Amino acid sequence: MPTLARARRIIWQRMASAAEANRPGRNRRRTIRRLIVMGLCLGIGLALQSRRDDRVAADRFEGARFVTDFALKDMSGKLVTPESWRAYRAVVVIALGADDPEIARIATTFRERQVGFFGVSPSPIRPTGFDFPILLDPSHELIGAAGLHVTPEAAVIDPDGLVVYRGSVSGVPAALDATLKGRMPEVRARPAQGSSLPDPAPLISIDEKVTYSTHIAPILREHCVECHRPGQVGPFSLLTYHDAAKRASFLHEVTDSGQMPPWKAMRGWGTFFDAHHLTHRDLALLDRWAESGAPEGDSTTPAPPIESPEWQLGSPDLILTMAEPYAVAATGDDWRGFVLPGQLTDGRAIAAVEYKPGNRKVAHHARVFIDATDYSRKLDADCPGIGFSYDGRFDIPRPALVEWGPGMKLRTPPEGVAKPVKPGSDVVLLLHYHGRGKPETDQSSVGLYFAKTPPTRIMAMHTLSSNRIDIPPGEARHREVARSTVQHDIKAYSVFPHGHNLLREMKLTATLPDGQVRRMLWIKDWNFAWQTQYYYTEPISLPRGTKLEVLALYDNSPANSLNPNKPPKRVKYGPSSDEEMLGCHLYVVADDEAGDQYYRRKWEDAR
Ligand code: HEC
Repeated sequence: MPTLARARRIIWQRMASAAEANRPGRNRRRTIRRLIVMGLCLGIGLALQSRRDDRVAADRFEGARFVTDFALKDMSGKLVTPESWRAYRAVVVIALGADDPEIARIATTFRERQVGFFGVSPSPIRPTGFDFPILLDPSHELIGAAGLHVTPEAAVIDPDGLVVYRGSVSGVPAALDATLKGRMPEVRARPAQGSSLPDPAPLISIDEKVTYSTHIAPILREHCVECHRPGQVGPFSLLTYHDAAKRASFLHEVTDSGQMPPWKAMRGWGTFFDAHHLTHRDLALLDRWAESGAPEGDSTTPAPPIESPEWQLGSPDLILTMAEPYAVAATGDDWRGFVLPGQLTDGRAIAAVEYKPGNRKVAHHARVFIDATDYSRKLDADCPGIGFSYDGRFDIPRPALVEWGPGMKLRTPPEGVAKPVKPGSDVVLLLHYHGRGKPETDQSSVGLYFAKTPPTRIMAMHTLSSNRIDIPPGEARHREVARSTVQHDIKAYSVFPHGHNLLREMKLTATLPDGQVRRMLWIKDWNFAWQTQYYYTEPISLPRGTKLEVLALYDNSPANSLNPNKPPKRVKYGPSSDEEMLGCHLYVVADDEAGDQYYRRKWEDAR
């Protein structure tokens, strides 16, 4: 802020001259008074400046509306979901009444600019005079999400589902012009006059009978059983009718509260593979099923099959397994490292690494490293028993190749992206075990996938982090911000957010050099137990000069049930789980050779 900088310079100059004026014989008291006033001004100036620095890009989406969850049929019976909108650069949704020449004209103008137009009507009475699809929305799935109240009224929605404009149809062209340029419209809302919409009908009709076989089994198979079946992390199985029926209301409770399935990324902030989101209708079905006594329905209906390949990424080129089973204590945390037998002797580049827990009940979190030194071997030799213990702070001088948490999904990197490995390197597995009440053993494996063609790029880590975290006791919404500027044109493939028990929210934005703001990740109810890597369905281009910013909110009040300190204490940066961290690791590939070299050097120098 130039004016502020100027004001500060003037204050400095005045203070300097005041100090100079403060010679014997002058009016000392006046000078001191002046100095105090100027010091105060400077203090306020600095405070203003730091407040300005705290104003982060994420804040502009405070209270924003998103249209990210609906499944509606058009008049011809075709199903339309947010997925169907992927091809558009913006979508206009209009609650339609009688025919309206203005809407038809706007649609004609903007259609060739890849704008999708959809009428939406709460009743099956077909409005005439429109040549775009009309979606039937008796339960206000879309109407409610877009915030429409009258007919005609329009909402302009950006490609990630954010409602950037809402109100009278006359405001649509200006809103579209801005959105197509990647900017926020200047006018975000305009009052619309018209007739009010009828009240929404319930999501499932009163007389629809909800059964396990027809409605519930498909939901559980799609969203729950990957963890809730024997040998997986879930505390019980949900494979059969009886498994589910005896917990019917519990299933509704945990899904309605958002506790399950554990998928933390909010819709509208990045589009990710493997997203586990239940729709409003799924929730209504689980509710109705529990309320009506959990009927089974036709027990001969085959439940959808479950996919459970042994390795997510297919057969590895090399499998390394811990030399012997490790005995995990019945209770508490145990951080243990293992140098896996079998060195990487031929220097092939590693495209992907997959961790396979030997015992999912106790494997809480795992990281796989490549160690080109004898550091880990020495630790292993010096520590009695198999493997070596570390205190959670352990870091081999290389970033981890893969991080694993329960339910974590992996993706194969694009062709030509792989990490070169020095011949003779060790594969080191760092495990965080968590006892589950009785002694268990674990013998985990790591699968390696080598590059098929000589690699041209590496998957690098672009990290945003802060080690200046300092959270006063009792503060319920403490803000921390970390920033970074992108030095080369890159594409982001995935993001791994990290924090501990006080972290509540994290928002990652990218402000591109042309001013566009990309919403990249928003976690609203952070949970230490559910850390995962989020893979973008489309890599996000971040040109050189892009400003990345992560805003984190921490709750250090006694009301936070996860607060490790009772009563709350001041909490600072630190790797142990009663300290705090702020990390957002973007996995990126550089667009060009120079960028790749830059990230390669960082990889080589990493400590
Ligand atoms: C990624 C793995 C995973 C998925 C997917 C998953 N769960 Fe869970 N679930 C767990 C784990 C682990 C626990 C125990 C720890 C906890 O409660 O967080 C659990 C706990 C539960 C509980 C007990 C909660 C409590 O407070 O004791 C219920 C009920 C439940 N899950 C239902 C579901 C339903 C219904 C789905 C699907 C809509 C689902 N889960 C999807 C892993 C999963």
